[in-house]
Amino acid sequence: MDDRQILERINVLKKERNAVILAHNYQRPEVQELADFTGDSLALSRTAANTDAAVIVFCGVHFMAETAYILSPDKTVLLPDLNAGCPMANMITADQLRELKKERPGATVVAYVNTSAEVKAETDICCTSGNAVKLLDKLKDVEDIIFVPDKYLGSYLSEKSGKDFTLWNGYCPTHVKIQPEDIIKKKKNYPDAKVLAHPECTQAVLKLADEVLSTEGICSYAKETDAHEIIFATEIGIMHRLMKENPDKKFYPASDAAECPNMKKITLEKILWALEKMRYEIKVPDEVCKKARKAVDRMIEIL
Ligand code: 13P
Ligand code: SF4
Repeated sequence: MDDRQILERINVLKKERNAVILAHNYQRPEVQELADFTGDSLALSRTAANTDAAVIVFCGVHFMAETAYILSPDKTVLLPDLNAGCPMANMITADQLRELKKERPGATVVAYVNTSAEVKAETDICCTSGNAVKLLDKLKDVEDIIFVPDKYLGSYLSEKSGKDFTLWNGYCPTHVKIQPEDIIKKKKNYPDAKVLAHPECTQAVLKLADEVLSTEGICSYAKETDAHEIIFATEIGIMHRLMKENPDKKFYPASDAAECPNMKKITLEKILWALEKMRYEIKVPDEVCKKARKAVDRMIEIL
């Protein structure tokens, strides 16, 4: 089957199954093109929570599909490749978080959405990179904050709030590949370009950025700015949307090394297979789901 035939078959099955296809901004270009909706973690969570479809085919990584299930447990959530995980989300377990909570009784636990459902169940409130700064306002009267698992996003927030967070030693193996030297070099080549960085980047990279934004924030900024050149410090898959939505502007990845292999595991063939076989179904046990839901509901309410 060639791509055209695969796409035709996917569209037939999509109707038959009453399915919606959601894709993260880092997905392969052809997957983004096929998707009904492409966005960042926050927008995808909100879309999953509000969809009327019976089946959600999630083109992203495991924690994103789990979050969709937590928000819509009455729907069938499919992840086309079960091995599409997020290494950062796997850097903390629920047992480890429980131990940390024992060390800091009374602390408010904030978890980045890049965590397992079990970790979310041990959390007071989740956030994404799209609403983390707004969350700080909600936490203005809270002094003792545990932030897991991303030490870079955590440090960025801690600095912004002027509070000393208890951090976990987690990080994104893709974003740490972007070095400050990469930005300096690109800035030399393109001195008029704005530098937009994702908060999963190291502190040294964030210091060189004009703006620190989620993937959706980067897409919105690119549309609205008068700048014609943008250097982006995040996963290179975002380039597809940036170029498509702004054909008259120029985009430069800070580093070509910043490619998330897990995000690239989803292919058109696997999406077709997922819809044919109705696999891999992502579920979360009831008890965990109910506890995690509270933290995720609080996350999607932050506007
Ligand atoms: P966004 O929520 O900004 O899309 O980021 C998700 C992610 O996994 C970034 O690495
Ligand atoms: Fe996880 Fe990093 Fe990949 Fe995002 S880019 S899914 S944080 S490994």
